Amino acid sequence: MNPLNHVAIIMDGNGRWGLKRKNSRNAGHRAGLNTVEKIIKETIKHKVKFLTLYAFSTENWKRPKNEINFLFSLLENFLKDKIEDLNKQKIKLKFIGKKNFSSKLNYLLRVSEKKTYQNKRLQINLALNYGSKAELINAFKELKKNKEDINEKNLNKYLQTYNTPDPDLLIRTGDTKRLSNFLLWQLAYSEIFFEKKLWPDFNEKDYNKIIKKYKNIKRNFGNI
Ligand code: IPE
Ligand code: IPE
Ligand code: MG
Repeated sequence: MNPLNHVAIIMDGNGRWGLKRKNSRNAGHRAGLNTVEKIIKETIKHKVKFLTLYAFSTENWKRPKNEINFLFSLLENFLKDKIEDLNKQKIKLKFIGKKNFSSKLNYLLRVSEKKTYQNKRLQINLALNYGSKAELINAFKELKKNKEDINEKNLNKYLQTYNTPDPDLLIRTGDTKRLSNFLLWQLAYSEIFFEKKLWPDFNEKDYNKIIKKYKNIKRNFGNI
């Protein structure tokens, strides 16, 4: 059985869910938060140490202002409501992606990271304004600036996931089969599962089914 240390998830399908059920994409984003909470709990049960969630990409700025504002207000309220509870559950929160939001939000993100920094049960990397290409370009610039050799070890140091092993498992919900600029380097050997269900409909049972399948895959890493 394969060990499972790191799960990465592209939480896709909120907009379509909301439009279908409530004629509002934003209603889908709100419903998607419940799935986030369920999946965090289940991840802890499986004793997984790292969970990376794609919440907002560098390309998502193309969306209408009203949707972007709604997403960030959801995030802000979620953090304000839940940070104490996450901390009590010994969850470490880290944000990957460029923190160039309002100074109020940047502050809230930093405070949340600082507060949970020592926690060891589960590290959640929340990808916000994250793009893998930007991350890689930045890493190469750092290597050049510091006149370091270009090799895997050195490059890894400058990725925002430097303290995290590569994902064992990637799940994308929402019936779409692409990576959308998520962890392009880190996913080189991950097992990938594309799930038909939209993110707000995804539940513990679906998650457990995927984990069970993952555990029985023969992972070769180039070997036989
Ligand atoms: C994913 O759901 C969440 C974010 C990108 C913030 P979408 O909003 O992309 O949902 P669909 O794909 O339009 O249904
Ligand atoms: C990827 O979903 C980003 C997140 C889930 C945050 P998108 O819905 O933005 O991806 P594309 O644009 O359809 O590829
Ligand atoms: Mg989408």
